[in-house]
Amino acid sequence: MARHLITSALPYINGIKHLGNMVGSMLPADVYSRYLRQRGHDVLYICATDEHGTPAELAAKERGLAVDEFCAQAHDAQKAVYDGFALAFDYFGRSSSAENRDITQHFARKLNENGFIEERAIRQVYSPADGRFLPDRYVEGTCPHCGYDKARGDQCENCTRVLDPTDLIDPRSAISGSTDLEVRETKHLFLLQSKLQHEVEQWVARHEDDWPQLASSIARKWLNEGLHDRAITRDLDWGVPVPADTWPELAAEGKVFYVWFDAPIEYIGATKEWADQDPANRDWKSWWYDVDTDVRYTEFMAKDNVPFHTVMFPATELGVREPWKKVDFVKAFNWLTYYGGKFSTSQKRGVFTDQALDILPADYWRYFLISNAPESDDASFTWEHFTATVNKDLADTLGNFVNRVLSFSRKRFGDDVPAGGEPGEAEAKLGEEIARLLAEYETQMEALQFRKAAAALRALWSAGNSYLEEKAPWLEIKTDKDGAALTLRTAMNLIHLYAVVSEPLIPATARAMRAAFTLADDTASWVSADEARALSTVPAGTPFTVPPVLFAKLTDEDLETYKERFGGEPA
Ligand code: MF3
Ligand code: ZN
Repeated sequence: MARHLITSALPYINGIKHLGNMVGSMLPADVYSRYLRQRGHDVLYICATDEHGTPAELAAKERGLAVDEFCAQAHDAQKAVYDGFALAFDYFGRSSSAENRDITQHFARKLNENGFIEERAIRQVYSPADGRFLPDRYVEGTCPHCGYDKARGDQCENCTRVLDPTDLIDPRSAISGSTDLEVRETKHLFLLQSKLQHEVEQWVARHEDDWPQLASSIARKWLNEGLHDRAITRDLDWGVPVPADTWPELAAEGKVFYVWFDAPIEYIGATKEWADQDPANRDWKSWWYDVDTDVRYTEFMAKDNVPFHTVMFPATELGVREPWKKVDFVKAFNWLTYYGGKFSTSQKRGVFTDQALDILPADYWRYFLISNAPESDDASFTWEHFTATVNKDLADTLGNFVNRVLSFSRKRFGDDVPAGGEPGEAEAKLGEEIARLLAEYETQMEALQFRKAAAALRALWSAGNSYLEEKAPWLEIKTDKDGAALTLRTAMNLIHLYAVVSEPLIPATARAMRAAFTLADDTASWVSADEARALSTVPAGTPFTVPPVLFAKLTDEDLETYKERFGGEPA
């Protein structure tokens, strides 16, 4: 059985993420990891904060903090939110770690030895007032084409024309506003991706049939446009330093690697961080090195990240000429929109992950987001849809079923699962239905079709409701006490089955449901088809308790409050 290596795109350090980021990478990776672990697979789920680059430096400056201090705080703040969402990473690292520095420098040395790195002189804008070179997008000025006066040095937002910073009229530093700018010549390392084009194409050709269409079509598009050599160093203070043993001159000038060069390497770096903090994990390299088929590597990301993961990072890995593990399956997501528009930090539209947890527990969000994952297309978040889904699926179909069955049984039969009655035709039919839906759920999980998996889970919950309505134990008990006992016992077995199989999506609720039963030996991590058919894991006589209401119903008033607080109209 292959071991599963799983990573989700590394969230950038400069702020708390919104729900769209969560559903596009970390949450589905967590659901998939949990599922595989439950099925007995050996899983390593790795993520980290992506910490280098100009936006991190600027965010630190804005808060009056040193950049390393800012990143340490921001990392902890993001980690706290992910704990709140019950994301069960094996390790959540930091791309600014010593481990990532070492591996990034190693990669660069190897690429250089293999002839894939070249030093080139380029002309770049320097701002004496800021004491630094300015990245293109941090030079602002008037667009020579349309006259827009806040055009950025890489592109004019108004007329969308691509610009060079030297095209701008009256250029100024976007950081300090200084107009005292010069163009200076400076040397940088270039990764000769053009030399790797053919190899990357062959590698993609071997894999793209297995990838979802969203991932393979984006990879194709980039390859067709041709891989260009690109600068992989920057003049910044904050980043992985260029190694002095190989490039003494550039190192002395303080050059660091570009954030997109070291960020994907941090998937490996974080695995080493995981190993370094616990001697039991020493064997980190067995997940990454010379493991072609005994590890299956699945990456999760939003569509804007696909080029980096299907083309650029594989090019780097190929150029190193060492057998580092490359991705097997790329799970890419479209956008989650907020009422059809963009989530926007500056305009305060949309829901951030920390705010979401202030309002409701993680399971409400986890279930909603996974059932509406933007897989085949963009999906829209609306409070109307959210509250309706919570009320219907979570509160009525699941929560109410659990509560009704357990409360009624306790009232009529006491604190143990009731004995009596023999399973008949209704139970046989139910067992078949449950086994069929469970198989469907497993199939969709294994295919990483999250919406369909959530739909199958919902169907499992509904099947319990239909059975209960059909048998109506509250009527049965008047004429056939044993029959009512059988119905309730069967329903309690469904609750236990739901507890086991719902765990990937709603782990806290699953735990509460399972804890309702005091089973002598409750180690079940999954349910076999036979167990699903028999529905008898929880035998008569098992003590149980009635858990507090699992999901609160959301009222019209709640809905109005949310819409007012977050803005609830189309963009
Ligand atoms: N930080 C990037 C983003 O937010 C994603 C980096 S993924 C990595 O889009 F693999 F490069 F780390
Ligand atoms: Zn313009």
